[in-house]
Amino acid sequence: MGKVNLILLGPPGAGKGTQAKRLVERYPLVHLSSGDMLRAERAAGSELGKSVQSFMDSGKLVPDELVTEVVISRIKRELSAGDKGVLLDGFPRTEQQANDLAKAMEQINEKIDAVIDLQLDSKVIVERMAGRRSCPKCGRVYHLKANPPKNDNMCDDCNVELIQRPDDKEEVVRKRIAVYEEQTAILEDFYRKVGILKVVDAAQDIDSVSESIFKIIDQIIEN
Ligand code: AP5
Repeated sequence: MGKVNLILLGPPGAGKGTQAKRLVERYPLVHLSSGDMLRAERAAGSELGKSVQSFMDSGKLVPDELVTEVVISRIKRELSAGDKGVLLDGFPRTEQQANDLAKAMEQINEKIDAVIDLQLDSKVIVERMAGRRSCPKCGRVYHLKANPPKNDNMCDDCNVELIQRPDDKEEVVRKRIAVYEEQTAILEDFYRKVGILKVVDAAQDIDSVSESIFKIIDQIIEN
């Protein structure tokens, strides 16, 4: 199967992590979530982890200079390691990050093939975030109603108790939505101009969103 490099764009709670898990099962892709990378730094107690904590917990973006290098060096490492493409989730999030990514990809003779834009109304976002739970061990994401675990509040894979992310409190979610609209939504135009933006209605159920994305990727691979 042909290699593709993709970006999952969309506001908090649009389903980027949920869909990423399904996409890596179907296509030769490595899932790279900047949020997961930063949470791993925090869990490890690294200097970077300490520096990003207050930004994340208040729903603000971590400054570009703290995020870009970490994510881009990981992208380069993954792309030089094998035949899989990258599936970027949560990066880029500012125009500066998008420009830095484009430069880095050019340097290594790679390109982003498509940006999947998961569009979702902010009312639905707040409801989704209230029901989100995740596994502190493997990061698998659940929803109490839409995608519940098999056993009460335990991860299906790890049998570890699920947690609620500290930035999923309603007031922080509202801040994250505002930050998305102010600093990240601009990337829709950025990638529309490049001709690689693919819009998906993220208000559909989880399977239907997956089907819409599969169609887009299959078409790219066929061409
Ligand atoms: P990050 O971890 O990237 O969070 P986010 O973008 O806000 O996205 P989420 O992980 O909250 O949502 P998602 O779209 O993955 O939704 P999910 O699939 O879980 O970033 C966190 C923080 O890190 C940022 O605020 C910032 O501080 C920092 N950061 C990260 N990257 C950065 C960068 N590049 N630059 C600067 N700062 C950065 O789904 C949500 C819920 O809905 C789940 O419960 C799920 O089960 C459910 N669900 C999913 N799809 C559906 C559906 N179709 N129907 C019903 N329920 C659904």
